[in-house]
Amino acid sequence: MFTILTGAQFGDEGKGKIVDLMAKHYDLVVRFQGGDNAGHTVTVGEDVYKLHLIPSGFLLDSRVLIGPGTVLNPEVLADEIDMLEKGGITVTPEKLGIDAKTSIIMPYHIELDGLRESSRKEKIGTTKRGIGFAYIDKIARDEVQMADISSESSLLDRLSELAPQKESAIKDMGGDPGCVMDEAAILHYVELGKRLGPYITDVSYEVNKALDEGKNVLAEGAQGTHLDVIHGTQKFVTSSSTIAGSACSNIGVGPTRVDEVLGIVKAYITRVGEGPLPTELADEAGQHLHDVGQEYGTTTGRPRRCGWFDLPLVKKAIYLNGYTGVALTKVDVLSGLRSVRMCTGYLLDGRILDYPPEITSEVARCTPVYEDLPGWDDDLTNVKEFNDLPEAARKYVIRLEELMGVPVEYVSVGPGREQTFRK
Ligand code: IMP
Repeated sequence: MFTILTGAQFGDEGKGKIVDLMAKHYDLVVRFQGGDNAGHTVTVGEDVYKLHLIPSGFLLDSRVLIGPGTVLNPEVLADEIDMLEKGGITVTPEKLGIDAKTSIIMPYHIELDGLRESSRKEKIGTTKRGIGFAYIDKIARDEVQMADISSESSLLDRLSELAPQKESAIKDMGGDPGCVMDEAAILHYVELGKRLGPYITDVSYEVNKALDEGKNVLAEGAQGTHLDVIHGTQKFVTSSSTIAGSACSNIGVGPTRVDEVLGIVKAYITRVGEGPLPTELADEAGQHLHDVGQEYGTTTGRPRRCGWFDLPLVKKAIYLNGYTGVALTKVDVLSGLRSVRMCTGYLLDGRILDYPPEITSEVARCTPVYEDLPGWDDDLTNVKEFNDLPEAARKYVIRLEELMGVPVEYVSVGPGREQTFRK
């Protein structure tokens, strides 16, 4: 079975937690796009792991893979492996595989990302991890690949071709080009390359072979649908394609092999960074979502912007991804609100829309149209099954399911593994 899982909103929907929960049914869990701009928090008992690159399935028996469509900072990956080792979890090459063609994030990508973002009049709010510039180089065919960094001579060969261009780009933006050919940094990358060398694999081959053998494969998306570089709210997006179809092209597996596409949907909405968020709240309810939901970016620590559930955006996510089911997360965060609102449409230039306009500047001009439902006070974090939810919470979930037209398969009421149940 081949399942693809993506975030239906702007990222931070709780994908890591759901992957962690599902991974026991999968032989392989594969990251297919993005880099260490992503962040997921996985809580197991007392232990909390904050990860950026290693797919969430690593805690269970599944083998985890980093696909060639990702951009990889080898230092961040090595730090994650060390962190897990300190917690008693050994990440061997039998456990983790990295595709030979994965693009490497070089120090100059990070430098360029920072310089470009500070020179922008209207900011995107990037994570400054060099993601966009690593993808530019992939498309321009100027990338450094995973296979290039394991020997000093191959890395130097590659850099001698690329350095003049990178140095002049950094100089043009007013930065210090010294990072491009910094000897210590190059040697450090070669050390990292040698250390990560044993993990190198061919992800497309592994995935297709596993499917041929009747094994189960889970493709784990990073970020969220509306941060997609083609279909999102440009320019306030990331630099990769975050939607389900991208799993096929980025991993190298045919669309005919996909069995299920699971959308992770937060019971409200958050966004970190700039860009439109029609239901954004600046009132007490927004503060409630922020405080109770602990809405801070895992990667940057920035406070996330919070708003009510936005149906038009989720409907678009359903079209873009073809979801066969949905996991609804963080329903517990809504406890304590007198009433809960869901945005069922937008008002734009005197017209009611039930689907977002395509152009970002028009999304930014939309005013939400709300449906109000009664709230509930009960703490949901100990609820173990759907029927034990208070009536108002059940009605909220059922109404969302009805409006989305896609079955809610999981409901989550807290960060722990035991705080998720089937609907
Ligand atoms: P970049 O991916 O660092 O280039 O940032 C582009 C935009 O995507 C910014 O608004 C970031 O805040 C946002 N972004 C990137 N990764 C994530 C994520 O994992 N969760 C939520 N937002 C993200």
